[in-house]
Amino acid sequence: MSSLPFLNADAFSADPSRLADALRDRGACWIADWPPQPLRDALRDELRALQGREGLAPASVGRAGARARRDDIRADSTCWLDDPRCGEPARDFLMHLGEVRTMLNRTLFLGLHSVEAHYAAYPAGGGYARHRDRFRDSDARVVSWVTYLNADWGNDDGGALRIWEEDGSTVDLPPVGGSVCFLSELEHAVLPAHRERLSIAGWMRRD
Ligand code: OGA
Ligand code: MN
Repeated sequence: MSSLPFLNADAFSADPSRLADALRDRGACWIADWPPQPLRDALRDELRALQGREGLAPASVGRAGARARRDDIRADSTCWLDDPRCGEPARDFLMHLGEVRTMLNRTLFLGLHSVEAHYAAYPAGGGYARHRDRFRDSDARVVSWVTYLNADWGNDDGGALRIWEEDGSTVDLPPVGGSVCFLSELEHAVLPAHRERLSIAGWMRRD
């Protein structure tokens, strides 16, 4: 198992283009402690509030006519951050992600037109089987982003994000303490966790 390029929040804030370097060189990067803890806490509170109001819906797989609920493939329940039930933390987060999009367009000329993101809660025992974030018939999603919202996470809690790099090696990232950004063409999976796993998954799109 290999490790990923790593930026801490200070390095990323001082020079966000280092993320572009990491994506170009390795296709993925871990950004520790970013976005800042107060925003991650507010996002977790908002996700919890949505859960209390049944604001999350079970995710489905496949597109259009072939959409189906398959919790053996994907067990999370989600709510898009641009939903009217979401508030300030979601708007703040989308603004941050929009700034990253602008930076990646400037540095890598990716032509990314928009960002989208949803809250995701995986129940204990649930994961997301190995997949790409691009649909077979669409390459609109170019860059994937995941921010982890659990306040704490133990070594034995499971729930790693596993990424398959281009050379076939894998990286496992525990879902806590920051964000990961990777090219949407890379295969990845969410391994089942022993407890509920909270996150935001986002994408930068070329439409
Ligand atoms: C996804 C996904 C990864 C994670 O939502 O498509 O791969 O670590 N999420 O939550
Ligand atoms: Mn994915």
